[in-house]
Amino acid sequence: MIGKIKNKLKEVNNRNLEQKRSDELYAIGALFDTPDEIMDAAGKTTEAGYEEFDVNTPYPVHGMDQAMKLKNTMVGKTTFIFGFLGTTAALLMIGWMSGIDYQNIIGGKPFFAIPPAIPITFELTVLLGGLATAGLMLTLFNRLPWINNPLHDTNYIKQTASDKFGLVIYAKDKNFNIATVEGFLQSIGGKSIEKINFFEVREDRVRTPIFDFKFIALLAVVTVVTAVTAYGILRYVLFLPPFDFMWKQEKVLPQEKSTFFADGFSMRPPVEGTVSRGYIPYEYQGLPDSVVTLLANPLPINAEVLAKGKQRFNTYCSPCHGYYGEGDSRLRGQFPNPPSLHTDKVRQWADGNIYHVITNGQNVMSSYAKQISRDDRWAIVHYIRALQRALNAKDEDLN
Ligand code: HEC
Repeated sequence: MIGKIKNKLKEVNNRNLEQKRSDELYAIGALFDTPDEIMDAAGKTTEAGYEEFDVNTPYPVHGMDQAMKLKNTMVGKTTFIFGFLGTTAALLMIGWMSGIDYQNIIGGKPFFAIPPAIPITFELTVLLGGLATAGLMLTLFNRLPWINNPLHDTNYIKQTASDKFGLVIYAKDKNFNIATVEGFLQSIGGKSIEKINFFEVREDRVRTPIFDFKFIALLAVVTVVTAVTAYGILRYVLFLPPFDFMWKQEKVLPQEKSTFFADGFSMRPPVEGTVSRGYIPYEYQGLPDSVVTLLANPLPINAEVLAKGKQRFNTYCSPCHGYYGEGDSRLRGQFPNPPSLHTDKVRQWADGNIYHVITNGQNVMSSYAKQISRDDRWAIVHYIRALQRALNAKDEDLN
C-alpha cells in the first residue's frame, strides 16, 4: 500500500519535471548571501532604471519596499471602495424601507434616523469591505487558481526558499538586454546568475485544476462522509438521555385534548374563589362610574413618585396626549386626537376617574392595564394633576 503511494508520488513529481521550457526568455535571476546585500542590490537596481524586477527572500526583509521603491498596492483602495459601497447600500436600504416604503410610528420617533441605522450600516460596511478584500486578494491580486509561474522548478527559487536572497529582472523590462543585465547583476555582486525561460504551453497545464473530475469527486466523497458521520453521531451516539435536544417534552399544547382530566380539557380554569399570585383584580370592575370616584390615590406626592409618573406618562400617554396633556398628538392623524386633559371636566374629576380611564380605557382609547402596573398608573395620575396645576396656577401656589 505505502509502496504504491510512493510510486504514485514519484510519478506526479516526474510529470512536473517533465514540463518543458520553451526558448523564450522570462527573466534573469541572481542570488545574494545576506539581507544587507539584497537590500543594497534592490536599491542599485532601481537606481539603474529597471522597473520590472522582483526580489525573493526566505523571510520578509524590513525596508525592502522602500529599497524597491514600491508604490502602495490597490488593496487599501479596494477595501475603502467596497466598504463605502456597504455604507451607502445599508443607508439607502434602511432609508427606503423604514423611511418611505413601510412607515411605522414607534414611540413618536422619526421614520428614518441615523442612530438606529448604525448597527446594520456598520455590519454591511465591514462585511462588504472584508469579503471584497479577501476575495480580490486571492483572485485579482494573487491570481488564484492559476498557480503556474516560470520561476517554479528553478535552482533560483529553490535556493531562495532555503537560505539565499534572490533578485530577478524580467525580460519585459524596457531596458532589458541579456548581456547588460548579466553584467549588471555581476557588478552588484550577484552569484549563480541564471537564465529562466517560460514553460511550454501544455494542454493539461492550462486547464484549471479545480474543475478536474477527480477533485470534484473527492469533494463529493468528503461531503457525504462528513454528513453521514455527523448525523450518525448525533442520532445514535449522543441521542441518549439527557442529550435528546429538548425534542421530547412532557407538556400539553394549547387546545390539546387531555387524557388526564375527566372533562377532556387540558387548559384548566383557576380554582373558584382564588386569585393567582402577584395579580390583584380591578376592585371596581363592573360597578357604576359614581363608585369609582371613591377610589383614593394610595401614593404619596413626592419628587420620586412624580418623576416616575412623568417618565411613564411620556412613554405611554404623550404620543397621543402630548407631553403636557394638551391633546397635541404626535401621531399625525393616524389615531383620533384626544381631548385636552386641562378641560374643566378632567380637572374636576376625582383621581379615581383618571385611574379608571387608564385601567379600562374609554371609547377609542384602549386599556393600559397590561402595560402599566397599578402603582405606575397612580403615579401617572399624580403627574397629570401636577400638569393641570402648572397650567392653571393660583396666586397661593407662589407661597
Ligand atoms: C393611542 C392614543 C392614546 C394613548 C396612548 C392614550 N390615550 Fe388617553 N385618550 C385617547 C383618546 C383618543 C381619548 C378620547 C376618548 C374618547 O373619545 O372618549 C382619550 C381620553 C383620555 C382621557 C379622558 C379625557 C376626557 O376628557 O374624557 C384620559 C383621562 C386619558 N385619555 C388619559 C390617558 C393616559 C393617562 C394615558 C397614558 C397611560 C393615555 N390616555 C394614553 C388616546 C390615547
